[in-house]
Amino acid sequence: MLLDGKVAVVTGAGSGVGRASALRFAAEGARVVCADISLDGAEETVREIEKLERPDGPGGPSGAAARAVAVRCDVSVEADVAGALEHAAERFGTLDIVFNNAGVPTPRLGAKLEDHSVEDFDRLVAVNLRGVFLGSKHAVLRFKRQGGGGVILNTGSVAGIVAWGGSVYGATKGGVHQLTRAVAIEGAPFGIRANAICPAGMPYTGFMTAGGMGSDEETTAALARQTGANHPLGRPITAEDCAEAAVFLVSDRAANITGVLLPVDGGYLAR
Ligand SMILES: NC(=O)c1ccc[n+]([C@@H]2O[C@H](COP(=O)([O-])OP(=O)(O)OC[C@H]3O[C@@H](n4cnc5c(N)ncnc54)[C@H](O)[C@@H]3O)[C@@H](O)[C@H]2O)c1
Repeated sequence: MLLDGKVAVVTGAGSGVGRASALRFAAEGARVVCADISLDGAEETVREIEKLERPDGPGGPSGAAARAVAVRCDVSVEADVAGALEHAAERFGTLDIVFNNAGVPTPRLGAKLEDHSVEDFDRLVAVNLRGVFLGSKHAVLRFKRQGGGGVILNTGSVAGIVAWGGSVYGATKGGVHQLTRAVAIEGAPFGIRANAICPAGMPYTGFMTAGGMGSDEETTAALARQTGANHPLGRPITAEDCAEAAVFLVSDRAANITGVLLPVDGGYLAR
């Protein structure tokens, strides 16, 4: 049990990487606040967590205690983010892990820099960068108040390292990466670690639909072939691939790892 007794907040937990990670964290013994702008999505994740086999069996000491709760949270709104973290501490007694994962894609598939309106730019920055800033800020404030350190994990992207997936989108992810490194250095004296996962193409999450792609079987299969062909290992990245990297980085097994941007990309960046 890698996360036994830990309390985590996961943003964007209503779908994709956030849902897979919330499930994985809970399976490793964590209690999880599933935060998402879509309360329906977050509640569905909580239902899936409650279906997981309990580590100590149905009659074990954890009994009927909830392992997860859903909260509606827009990560671009400071009060929502502070509230979600507060909720974790109130409900479960402490806060150990904040996974700032929520993000939105380039608004129209294939949009070039000059196709972005100021509104497009502001929305990408508000969710992808301000959201991570707010989650990190309130995590650091709480971890310092509590004492004993804490863990921040952010979802970046290969698009923050090379030009892929949209210019403005990539710029927000580059910002996430730099914020991660800076928080890692500032937080180190307080036992606060900060890392990021940097996924490549994930055709099976809700992201492509959010980016204007269809979600029908044919479109998804075509996209999976295309993204798979871009990755030296030959297959697309899944939310579960990211959840595996996430659970390691937030666990004590990574106790001496901070400031790392970990590609989950099937070798894409190594080419
Ligand atoms: N799918 C990809 O190809 C890909 C590649 C690299 C990085 N990423 C990153 O992975 C992360 C997760 O994406 P995913 O693929 O699981 O997508 P997804 O669309 O399946 O999940 C994103 C979740 O974030 C939520 N969300 C959107 N705006 C929000 C807001 N303002 N506040 C709170 N929640 C909000 C959505 O409701 C959704 O549940 C994102 O940060 C994304 O940028 C995705």
